[in-house]
Amino acid sequence: MLNLNTLTRWFVAVSLVAICIILMKSTAAEQTFMASVPQLLSDPFLQLPTANSVRVVWFTEFAGSGHTVSYGRDFRQSAIATTTKLSRTREDQNSVIGTQYKKPTKRDIWRHEAEVTKLDSNIRLPYRVTSVREDGKSITSKEFTLTAKPEPGTPLKILLTSDHQLKPMTAANLQKVVETVGKVDAVFFAGDLVNIPDRASEWFDDNRGGAFFPCLQGRAKYELAKNNIKTTYIGGEIIQHAPLYAAIGNHEVMGRYEKTGSLDDEFGDAYPREAAIAQLLRQKSDRAFVKDYSFNTDTYEEIFTLPQSDKGGEKYYAVTFGDVRLAVLYATNIWRTPSLDKSAKGKYQERQQDVNNPDEWGYGQHIFEDIFRGSPQYNWLEEELNSPQFQAAKYKVVMLHHPPHSLGDNIVPAYTNPVQIIDTNESVRYEYPKDQDYLIRDIVPLLEAANVQLVFYGHSHLWNRFVSSSGMHFLETSNVGNSYGAAGGDKRRDVPVGDDNYAATGDPNGLEPILPTITPLLGKNGQQLPYLASNDITAFSILDTATGGVSSYKFDTLKPDSEVVKFDEFKLKSIAGTN
Ligand SMILES: [Fe+2]
Repeated sequence: MLNLNTLTRWFVAVSLVAICIILMKSTAAEQTFMASVPQLLSDPFLQLPTANSVRVVWFTEFAGSGHTVSYGRDFRQSAIATTTKLSRTREDQNSVIGTQYKKPTKRDIWRHEAEVTKLDSNIRLPYRVTSVREDGKSITSKEFTLTAKPEPGTPLKILLTSDHQLKPMTAANLQKVVETVGKVDAVFFAGDLVNIPDRASEWFDDNRGGAFFPCLQGRAKYELAKNNIKTTYIGGEIIQHAPLYAAIGNHEVMGRYEKTGSLDDEFGDAYPREAAIAQLLRQKSDRAFVKDYSFNTDTYEEIFTLPQSDKGGEKYYAVTFGDVRLAVLYATNIWRTPSLDKSAKGKYQERQQDVNNPDEWGYGQHIFEDIFRGSPQYNWLEEELNSPQFQAAKYKVVMLHHPPHSLGDNIVPAYTNPVQIIDTNESVRYEYPKDQDYLIRDIVPLLEAANVQLVFYGHSHLWNRFVSSSGMHFLETSNVGNSYGAAGGDKRRDVPVGDDNYAATGDPNGLEPILPTITPLLGKNGQQLPYLASNDITAFSILDTATGGVSSYKFDTLKPDSEVVKFDEFKLKSIAGTN
């Protein structure tokens, strides 16, 4: 028989179990509730400002029933967004996101864009966006500010950046931009925004916390562990308030669509258009079909609304922003390994096993868009440089991804179409004659003749700069991690030995790097270094149109409490007869 004590113990035990179940259930319910709290996939960001308007763009994971921008005093004015669906965004087995995927899988993402009109470029207005779901629930963003394109004469601070690619120091870098110079007026982005452009999470919500939009919108949560100190960086609230202009880097280009087992493979499997056409010669070959068999920049072009040129669309274009005329080139090639191992599908050769199987060739480090003299892009650039807008601009800037001058790895081999050498049954090799480097042979002389003051680029993940004899500046900035170092001294590029075509050290195109004017980094022996190539110290640059100065800043992530240091400054040469 149960006595009273036993009954009491039973009662207490049962009650405790019941309470636990209730608690567990409520926790689960809370979790479900949290998961169902509707969210926007990104904050809004600004695109394509004109003299009296600007576009506001944002993303959701639902089509919704209405999407609007509210702006102005008390948010009384509104603009209705147009909604489109991204056509190629996917996740795969290499996505770093909550869901585990086994293969490339479509991810549904909707893009909303509203044009806010009748703006005055001297007035900045508050705005916020609202998306309404199909079930009627609405989500409203935080408040940000917008304005029209600045008029010439307006002092501007423009962030020069590139190669974010979810690298470890990107969030720290952008956080320090905002802490150092406050809100910038525009972002010039010299390519390589993410790693794999069709992988949605790299843009929006990679679990490591350093995706593209979170970093540039101050919503990152990237933990950097250095010297046993963990610091979480949030990036910078930048593009909600300032338009971004981008150039296409090799990481904006996807390869052959759905031809391989992962998005990484697909990214690396880009074919030259000519090879795709040859392969499809006897099949139907409409433009989209060829694109699927070669390469595309669809996701990049679907995400951004950039200025357009007649010949190049968003791929290459020019824009006036305040005192700056910016010409943006599509100058990038596929990256392939420098390895000469027989099993390497590389820059310099095909795999031994593929010698007689052209379908498996990589075609070396082929260029995605022609830029040589006489090509449509070259002709467009020549026309642009001769245009009244370009000639009259106080600051003439050209942005591209591939470096014309650099100590970095990726400047070698020369920027030219690979010359294929087939030794039947033996080898398929590629050479890149240095005297046929299109940027050096064809483009730089055009820029010199047009009095361009600044050529800005990325690709090798280091900071270094150069000046030509006429005073044209070349700048590669935005060291955010995964630096490939600077080729000089002990550090030599991985190039075929004993071939003058391929420089193992220094700038292959003959300029000496400029020593930073304020605080150069020191090398192992205490010598001053004419570059910053570090995985601990991050760098960014700001163009100040009030002074024509370009300032570069560094931040040591090994010392999270340290100050940002301006380590270099130079002035763009002034051009007589401009505004
Ligand atoms: Fe690149």
